[in-house]
Formats: sequence, structure tokens, C-alpha cells
Amino acid sequence: MTKVLEFYKCDDCGTVVMVTHSGEGPVMSPGGKPMRLLEEKMQEEGLTEKHVPVIEKTANGIKVKVGSVPHPMIKEHYIQWISVKDGRNFFIHALRPGEPPEAEFPVSDPAVKSIIYCNVHNLWTNKK
Ligand SMILES: [Fe+2]
Repeated sequence: MTKVLEFYKCDDCGTVVMVTHSGEGPVMSPGGKPMRLLEEKMQEEGLTEKHVPVIEKTANGIKVKVGSVPHPMIKEHYIQWISVKDGRNFFIHALRPGEPPEAEFPVSDPAVKSIIYCNVHNLWTNKK
């Protein structure tokens, strides 16, 4: 089945790729190995409150926070990006260590799907 948005990771080198349209063949790492399809998590014991995106409405759109307890933002463990899927639009905001784990987007509906990436715990979402 063709999906329009998938993320794959190479467990050897840590490379993560976003696939906007999947074909038949496997997604290969730079080293030539099949990459692992990342599943979007919503529940995992002890990790949920720091990873599941929380969305609030703002004057200009929405703010996405990761999570209900702010996620660490140190070099060894941080939220690398926050994304929002709003109909046919897909927004990604990149973050750096030391910055707050949050981002604003010009989206009017706070019920949108958000996907975030933690460099240790991979993909998380607020809805499947
Ligand atoms: Fe994490």
C-alpha cells in the first residue's frame, strides 16, 4: 500500500529519511542496508508525558509543545524537529539543543496531527 508520509532510520549510522511517496522497493541506508520503518508512538510506559505533542491555540495559529512535561533538550537527547500535518500541507520546524521543545505554526485548526522526532526515542504523535 502506498503511503504519502513515512520515516525510516538506519540503526547503524542514525540517518533518518522522510519518504513523501513510497514505491515498491526497500528504502536503503547510505551504507546499503534496508532502513527500519519508524512507527509513530502514542503510548510507552514512563515516556508518554515527555514525548506526546500537546497543541494549544495562539493568536496566529497553534503552538505545539513536547510534551505535557517538557522534554530534555541536551545534545545527547533532544527533540530534533516538530511537524504538523494540516490537510495537504506539512510543516516541519527544526530545533537545536538548548531551545524549548516547542514550535508555532500558521494553522487554524488545533485538532491537527503532529509528529515529533526525539533523537533517542524516535517518532511520536498525538493521533494516528
Ligand atoms: Fe526522548
